[in-house]
Amino acid sequence: MNNPVFNLHTFLSEHKALVNVHLEKILLELDSDRKLVQAMTHSLMAGGKRLRPVLALASARACGKDFTLALPAACALEMIHTYSLIHDDLPGMDDDDLRRGKPTCHKKFGEATAILAGDALLTHAFTILAHPHGLFDPVPEPQNLLELVAVISRAAGVNGMVEGQMLDMHPDRENKIKGNKPCSLDHLKNIHALKTGQMILASVVCGAVSVNAPARLRKQLEVYASHVGLAFQVMDDILNVQGDPEKMGKAAGSDVLKDKLTFPVVMGLGQSKAYAKKLADQAVDALDRFDNNADPLRAIAGYVINRDR
Ligand code: IPE
Ligand code: IPE
Ligand code: MG
Ligand code: MG
Repeated sequence: MNNPVFNLHTFLSEHKALVNVHLEKILLELDSDRKLVQAMTHSLMAGGKRLRPVLALASARACGKDFTLALPAACALEMIHTYSLIHDDLPGMDDDDLRRGKPTCHKKFGEATAILAGDALLTHAFTILAHPHGLFDPVPEPQNLLELVAVISRAAGVNGMVEGQMLDMHPDRENKIKGNKPCSLDHLKNIHALKTGQMILASVVCGAVSVNAPARLRKQLEVYASHVGLAFQVMDDILNVQGDPEKMGKAAGSDVLKDKLTFPVVMGLGQSKAYAKKLADQAVDALDRFDNNADPLRAIAGYVINRDR
């Protein structure tokens, strides 16, 4: 990207639009008369920020390659992220009524359909990675597609996001089992790194894998992404305290009501903000060997901690 004045706003809206076009293509292959497909569509197309897919595209760009190769992974990541939100909002989990400015999936379609819509988004993401031809052009090399499946399934699963959600639901119980000091900062960092950080890390790694980037670049991108991932969830905690529900399209104040273990609870609001800033700076520092193709990633690190939704 030899663009002397990089405009993040334009970058985000253009890349988000590209992702949305491909997500719509994926949904168009499914029969829209089916309630299951309507529930998937309701949540997937409700207007998320598309941070994870945009990170995948920005990461592929940073590697100096054809970033459109990362579109299959970008869509798969967004489908899995949306499934995680549908399940996160269920009565048995966070019990939320509003998501992306719309009624949550279970509020609109009922609990059973919401569970199944989540299941369907999760599994269909892997169908897309196994059969990207026809929907995407170009597509990554077969060995890269296989690695995308490995990276994404690892990040989303039992040792990644799902375990993070488990710890988030039962922070003290799980903590005591491990014999850790309850509510320790390390324990909280671990929850956040798993429930949110792993999928953000996978997004950046998938950009690099999609374009077959060398391990050297991938390592630096991993350091960037692990800092951005944690910063993102620290900011989510901060917004839950002081954000505007209208702008966010979801409830604020709910973490305190549910007695969640969050950064503002453990270190206070001011220190949480300072910590998010430090993490974003560390993320940018990790890219010091990249040229200006990595400017979108650098700008996204700032966006993550300055966002209002
Ligand atoms: C919300 O994610 C849930 C977390 C993992 C913190 P986002 O803030 O990216 O939500 P959308 O995708 O924009 O709706
Ligand atoms: C959601 O975390 C994390 C996942 C869906 C994996 P939170 O429960 O803290 O996020 P919000 O505030 O509901 O978006
Ligand atoms: Mg939650
Ligand atoms: Mg929640």
